[in-house]
Amino acid sequence: MAVREILRMGDTRLLTLAERVTNFSDPALATLIDDMFDTMAAAGGVGLAAPQIGVALQVVIFGFGKSERYPDAESVPETILINPFITPLGDEESLAWEGCLSVPGLRGEVPRFNRIRYRGSDRHGRPIDRDVEGFHARVVQHECDHLIGKLFPMRLRDLRRFGYTDVLFPDLQPD
Ligand code: NI
Repeated sequence: MAVREILRMGDTRLLTLAERVTNFSDPALATLIDDMFDTMAAAGGVGLAAPQIGVALQVVIFGFGKSERYPDAESVPETILINPFITPLGDEESLAWEGCLSVPGLRGEVPRFNRIRYRGSDRHGRPIDRDVEGFHARVVQHECDHLIGKLFPMRLRDLRRFGYTDVLFPDLQPD
């Protein structure tokens, strides 16, 4: 268990395509997941993708009860999602403010599908299949974007809705 360094935007390792996990009994996978939880907790994040700590594998984690970074967000169950596949349910989208541990101190208003189905595996290779909406759907779309080399600023449609967290939201904890 260890807190790992989170790569920041500009590091080309954040732009690569992550590989599928094939060996679920590899002890290195268990260590990776433990390190990701330690790292996410230390940073106060609501999600983390393996490429953010320099590991090009299709592994994301997310979930929280109450978040200081997103005080208005409803809770999301703690989840380890491996080899994910997302299908939008309908074409409705919403804009909401997002941040990213790899883009510290900044927030932008990002369009995401309101409702999605996501499938993948848990840490033991057992299937996960969920229909979700709202912030849960947003977090999954954000984290899975990391697996295809996309950071939230690449999704912005209006760069006027992009700025420093402490300027946009003076009451939020700085990140
Ligand atoms: Ni992120």
